[in-house]
Amino acid sequence: MTTKNRTLGEFIIENQTSFKYSSGELSKLINAIRLAAKVVNHEVNKAGLVDILGAAGETNIQGEDQQKLDVLANEKFIQTLTNREIVCGIASEEEDDFITINSNDNNHQNKYVVLIDPLDGSSNIDVNVSVGTIFSIYRRVTPVGTPVTLEDFLQPGKNQVAAGYVVYGTSTMLVYTTGDGVNGFTLNPAIGTFYLSHPNMQFPEDGKIYSVNEGNYIHFHQGVKDYIKYCQEEEGDRPYTSRYIGSLVSDFHRNMIKGGIYIYPKSSVTEEGKLRLLYECNPMAFLAEQANGLAIGGKNRILDVQPTELHQRIPFFCGSKNMVLKLQEFLEKYH
Ligand code: AHG
Ligand code: MN
Ligand code: MN
Ligand code: MN
Repeated sequence: MTTKNRTLGEFIIENQTSFKYSSGELSKLINAIRLAAKVVNHEVNKAGLVDILGAAGETNIQGEDQQKLDVLANEKFIQTLTNREIVCGIASEEEDDFITINSNDNNHQNKYVVLIDPLDGSSNIDVNVSVGTIFSIYRRVTPVGTPVTLEDFLQPGKNQVAAGYVVYGTSTMLVYTTGDGVNGFTLNPAIGTFYLSHPNMQFPEDGKIYSVNEGNYIHFHQGVKDYIKYCQEEEGDRPYTSRYIGSLVSDFHRNMIKGGIYIYPKSSVTEEGKLRLLYECNPMAFLAEQANGLAIGGKNRILDVQPTELHQRIPFFCGSKNMVLKLQEFLEKYH
């Protein structure tokens, strides 16, 4: 396959002119993310050998116990993006507030803000199961050269100019979109280079996998319970297969390749759901739509939601188009 000979670096340069904003700044930013991904990959790979497994001893703003790798990945991404002076602001799951970069430098012309989930699937770190990184990129809405404000980060997902994830799996992949389809690149660890291995990724329109933490079933609302029962019924191509890794990135990645639906609903104990709109759901929703899939939060399209808080949570249903539409029918019965 000739596509395998193309590196991510070459791909970024070749596609630069098709970007909505082709100043080269977005290309540099994706290059910086590529670099940070390799650094974090290196850390994740040796996690069992050096003392970076386990809890860091702090909690983040959402009350989660931070793992050492959460903290390390956060540092590596922020350092890489900050040192290269490539963005004007960063928001992260592991930071209470957004970070302003070079706010005092009036000559600073960077236009983009990045939102990251530096290490997704923290509960899988200690057990050697795939984890990931998620990123989302917007053009700032406030004037260039001034300090960023919360407004620059609280944009609806449909404003994203790029989004993607890295999955540190049996092989490490970087998958991203700039609004012109989704492409996946696999890291050759021997030489530290990402190669285009999955051009133009697409969710199959139908799928046979449903991914949900069924341990919470008792707390789910009736529409979700009924849909899960529907997945389990013996009729037509059902029952479907249940697969749940507990790392959104890995569950999404599998479902995009094989066809499936990811479900993280609100429940009687978590009225907003668990996943965070800005750095988990929006980037995944952008990728899903670019790959012919769908992503909704309750009844509405995720990408249309106007965020109100940096760490806002939202129910999330995402995957193969016909599966998401079927789930939506069940949800609407109870509204
Ligand atoms: P994070 O590790 O970034 O905090 O994200 C965890 C998320 C997501 O990756 C995963 O799909 C989900 O939480 C798992 O939640 P449950 O353990 O409640 O199923
Ligand atoms: Mn977390
Ligand atoms: Mn996460
Ligand atoms: Mn995380």
